Amino acid sequence: MSNNIVFSGIQPTGELHIGNYFGAVANWVRLQNSGQYQTIYCVVNLHAMTMPYDAATLHQNTESMFVDLLAAGLDPERSIVFVQSMVPEHTELAWVFGCVCSYGDLTRQTQFKEKSEQLEGKQDAFISAGLFTYPVLQAADILLYHAAHVPVGQDQKQHLELARDIAQRFNHQFGEYFPLPDVMFTETPKLYALNDPTKKMSKSLGPRSYVALFEPPESIRSKIRSAVTDTGNPEEPMGPGAQNLLAILRACGRNDLAEQFERDYANGPRRYAPLKDAVAEALIALTEPMRERRAALLADRAHVHRLMREGAEKARAIAQKTIREVRERTGLFQPPA
Ligand code: AMP
Ligand code: TRP
Repeated sequence: MSNNIVFSGIQPTGELHIGNYFGAVANWVRLQNSGQYQTIYCVVNLHAMTMPYDAATLHQNTESMFVDLLAAGLDPERSIVFVQSMVPEHTELAWVFGCVCSYGDLTRQTQFKEKSEQLEGKQDAFISAGLFTYPVLQAADILLYHAAHVPVGQDQKQHLELARDIAQRFNHQFGEYFPLPDVMFTETPKLYALNDPTKKMSKSLGPRSYVALFEPPESIRSKIRSAVTDTGNPEEPMGPGAQNLLAILRACGRNDLAEQFERDYANGPRRYAPLKDAVAEALIALTEPMRERRAALLADRAHVHRLMREGAEKARAIAQKTIREVRERTGLFQPPA
């Protein structure tokens, strides 16, 4: 029981960086533009409530993530793009799934263990039950739309396995209904921090570690110029910082330039200034139309809000049908209309 429905979600955690873009969002855009799938993408603000957070910041980040996804290339004409909390059926299905998911399965989720340990080290540690049941909500996100394909990173594999288990247990108990969703692994580059190329590029390593997707050109040039490389001594192998710059160049679609640098470097000392210039200019060129789209969206917030409502309406039309059928199957009483 497979289909061509793709679903994925991203938490509204603040600005997107090029690591998120090349590692996730660019792939979403490719799937959308391939014409082979019905693509549904969600800003998962309910998931962002599972860790300690600030209400005003979440409110603001939800709108800005929606804007950023559109600016990055998600097209509301071709994909359903929406905000999770505007479709309340997610939480209803999550309740039903909480009752077909075993407590034991949830206790084996490694992300819960990692995140709760992270919190335990802090003062006034508060570990919410929401953090524990997070994967149940994620299964509901996916199955509400009967999605069979879920493009996510390696770190989400266990959550996807749980979603399959939940679908399977539901089908077993209430009759074949949900597809078993598959992780869609695609070759996406993993980018490393500019200031410490042994670590994954991440906002938690500070602003010099990443290039934000909508960063002004001057700031992109400055950050790339100060990226950590190596001495360029041809007697020694190329370090991870320089490799990372080459990876960014390729991710920008400039394989031609990357190959040229590799050829030059194979024949003598590695001079990194020209590589850095090329990387900065490739990033600036790639993100130019995105910066323009974002500026246009931010200049017309009423239009953004309209797109948000329309996205939620399209999602809801599908979600309400699923919920009706789930209520019937699970014995939730509904008086005849
Ligand atoms: P996060 O906000 O870190 O959970 O990331 C959101 C998405 O971006 C996930 O799908 C990650 O796999 C992806 N991502 C984050 N950082 C990187 C990176 N440095 N390189 C590649 N992909 C990344
Ligand atoms: N848990 C995912 C993450 O942290 C986000 C997410 C929530 C998601 N619901 C989803 C991803 C449904 C794919 C499908 O990256």
